[in-house]
Amino acid sequence: MQVSAREAMVHPMERFIGRDLARPDGPAKVRGEAVYVADLRVPGAWVGGTVRSDVARGVLRGFERDPAFDWKRVTFVTAADIPGENVQALIVDDQPVLASGAIEHWGEPLALIAAPDVATLEAALAAVRPRIDPVAPNFDPELSTRVFKSIRIAKGDVDAVFGALPAGAIVVEGTYRTDSQEQLYIEPQGCIAWPPEADGTITVKGSLQCPHYVRKALVRCFGIAPESARVVQMETGGGFGGKEEYPSVVACHAALLARAAQRPVKLIYDRHEDLAVTPKRHPGRVKLRAAFSGEGTALALDADVLFDGGAYTTLSPVVLSRGTLHASGPYRWPSARIVGRVVATNHVPYGAFRGFGAPQTCFAIERLFDRAARELAIHPYALRRQNALVAGDTTATGQLLEHSVGSMQVLDAIARSSAFDRHAWCAPRAGTGAKRRGLGMSFFFHGAGFTGSGEEMLKGRVRVDLLPDGRAEVLAGSTEIGQGTDTLFTAIAAEALGVDTLDVVLARPDTARVPDSGPTVASRTCMVVGGVLEQACRTLRSRVVESGGTWRERARRFLASGGDGSVTVTYASPAGVRWNDATYQGDAYPVFGWAADVAEVEVDVDTCEVDVLRFWTAVDVGHALQPRLVVGQIEGGSLQAVGWAQREVITTRDGRFEQDRLATCIVPTTLDAPRFDVTLVEVPYPHGPYGAKGVGELPMDGGAPAVLSAIEDALDLHATHVPATPERLLALLEAASATPVRRA
Ligand code: MOS
Repeated sequence: MQVSAREAMVHPMERFIGRDLARPDGPAKVRGEAVYVADLRVPGAWVGGTVRSDVARGVLRGFERDPAFDWKRVTFVTAADIPGENVQALIVDDQPVLASGAIEHWGEPLALIAAPDVATLEAALAAVRPRIDPVAPNFDPELSTRVFKSIRIAKGDVDAVFGALPAGAIVVEGTYRTDSQEQLYIEPQGCIAWPPEADGTITVKGSLQCPHYVRKALVRCFGIAPESARVVQMETGGGFGGKEEYPSVVACHAALLARAAQRPVKLIYDRHEDLAVTPKRHPGRVKLRAAFSGEGTALALDADVLFDGGAYTTLSPVVLSRGTLHASGPYRWPSARIVGRVVATNHVPYGAFRGFGAPQTCFAIERLFDRAARELAIHPYALRRQNALVAGDTTATGQLLEHSVGSMQVLDAIARSSAFDRHAWCAPRAGTGAKRRGLGMSFFFHGAGFTGSGEEMLKGRVRVDLLPDGRAEVLAGSTEIGQGTDTLFTAIAAEALGVDTLDVVLARPDTARVPDSGPTVASRTCMVVGGVLEQACRTLRSRVVESGGTWRERARRFLASGGDGSVTVTYASPAGVRWNDATYQGDAYPVFGWAADVAEVEVDVDTCEVDVLRFWTAVDVGHALQPRLVVGQIEGGSLQAVGWAQREVITTRDGRFEQDRLATCIVPTTLDAPRFDVTLVEVPYPHGPYGAKGVGELPMDGGAPAVLSAIEDALDLHATHVPATPERLLALLEAASATPVRRA
C-alpha cells in the first residue's frame, strides 16, 4: 500500500483516531482460531440441502420421490410445512420462502432436505424430482411489463433547454451498459439453526451482514414475536452486499429444517451453489443525453435508467434509488431529468453489491463526460473541474451542498499525484507497437448512509454498558465482515471514553443482546453507527466523575456507588435534513464522499487484452479514523471496480449463470492488481464521528469509467459496455477501422 499524501487534519490530542490500531479480530483469523459457521461442531446436527427448479419459469405440480430411497432417513420440507407466512420478508412480500405454485427463476428453492450426513443428503437430493409445467420465460428487461419500482427526478425544464439551445451548444448522447458482477466473498453463504426451544425461541447462527434483517425474516416465516427469534452473527468471511439480504433465505430454510427434524441443521452452500443462486449486481442500461454550452458548461441532462431486477423484488427499489440519485454524477446541472425503473425478468434475483446501483450510473455519466470532452475539444479533467459541484451548489434533487464538499480537493489531489491534467488524452500518437498505453479518469461522489428518510426510519441504536470489572462493553448490531468494524468501534469507543483500547469490549452481534443499530450496509457503519457510538461513550464518560486511579477503578467505584453504567443512544438526523419521497426532492443523503480516479492501461492490439498497470485515486472520506483500513477499503473497492471494468464476465443461458464455478467465475488476483496510489483527502463532516463520512462503497464507483477512459486513450475508441472484454474491444476496433473516429 502506498499513501502518497494525506491532507490530514492534525489532532495531536487524539490517541486512537487517525492512528492505526492492530485489528482486534486479526490474531484469531491469522492463527485459524476464528470460528466460522462451518467450523461449529454441534453434536447431533444434520446437514441441509435445497431442491431447486431446473427451469427459469413454470408451475410446480409436486414432487416425484424415488421409492427406492428410504425417505425415513431424511426430513423433507415443502411450502406446506411453513408455520407462518410463506414470504421472504424484505421490502415487498413477493418472494416465497419455498415456491408452492409459480416458479420465477432457475434455481428457485422448492423443497428442503435434512440428512444425518452429506452422503445421505446427496442421495436424497438425487432421488427427488420436481414436477414442473414450464412457462415461457422473459429474460429481456426492455420487454418486461412488471415494474418493481420507478423513480423520476426533475430539476428545471429539460425540454425547454434542449428546445432552445444557445449558439455553439452541443448535445451528446450515449447508451451505456453494465453487466452483472459476482461479490465472491471468501466464505460462501451458510447458517445453522436450532429447533424451537420449549418457549418457542428459534436460534440461527450464520455468516451475515444484518442480524436484525434475518430476525425479521424468521419472525414472518414462523409467525413468532421478534423476541422469539435469535440471530447470532458468526465470523463472516466477506459480504460486499452479498450477505445483506440472502442470509435471510438461508436462515429461514435452515430453521424450517431444524423445526421439522427436531435437531440442529447446518445449511452451508458450496461455492458452486453459492455462485449459481445468490444475488449479484443488477445489470444496467443507462441512456443519456446532455447539452453543454460551447464553452463546456453543463446545461441539461436527460437520463433513462433501466435495471434488470431478476425474478423477485429483493432490494431492487433501493438499488434503483441509489442508482438514479447518482446518475447525474458530481456535476452542476441547472436542469436534469432522471427517470429510472427496475423490472422483473426470469433471471435469478439480483441484489445488493457494493455501490448499490451507483456504479452502473456513475459509469454512464463519466463515459458521457469523456464523449463531451472530445466533442468540445476540452481536456476531460478541465471539463469535469469546470462542472464539479462545490459548496453552495444544488444537486439534481435540489439538495444544497453545505458541508464537507471535497470535490475540488480531490481534483487537485489527483492532478498532483497522476498529472492527468497535463496528459494529452486521445491526442494522435505515433503508437505502432503491439502494445498501446493509455490514461483515463473518473470523478464521482457517493452518498453516505441510507437514502432520504431511511436513517430517520431506522433509528439505529447503540448501547454502552460498564461491566463489573470497569471495562466498557459496546453493544451494536453492526457486523465485522472483514472491513474493520471491530477496529473502528474500538478506536472510537476508547477515544470518546478516554480509556485504553483494552478497556473496551465488543459484544458479538446477537439479536438477543444487542440493540438494532441498523444493517451493516450503505457506507453507514462508520458515519452513522460510529457517530451514535461516540455520543454514547461521551455520555458515559461524563457520568463517571470519580477521580483517582485507572479508568477501571473509577468505573468500579461509580458502579459501587449506584451509578447507572448503561447508556443507549438513538441516531437522529442532523437538523435541517429534509427529504420528500414522493417527489424525490431534497437531501438525498446527509453528506457525500468525493473521489477521482486515474487508471493507466496497456492494451495488446492483437489480442485486445487489457492490463491495468497503475491506479491513482484521491478520496475525501471526511476523516480517516483508521487510515490503514480506509486505504484497504479504497484499494479493495478499486480492484473490484477494475475487475468489473474489463475482466469479470457474467453471462446467463436460459436464466442460468454460466460462470457458476471458480474455474469460470474470474476476478482479479493480487497478480492482476495495478500499482495503487491512494491520496486521502480529509474535508471533515461536522456531524460525523471525528469528522468521518463513509468509504465502503465509494471506491466501487469510479474504477470502471476510468479504465474505459484509459482504453479510449490507448485505442481511440469509445467503449460503452462493462466489462470491456477483448471480444467487445475487437468488435469496436473493426467497426472503427471502417469509420475512423474524429480526433478532437
Ligand atoms: Mo450494501 S451493497 O449497502 O451491503
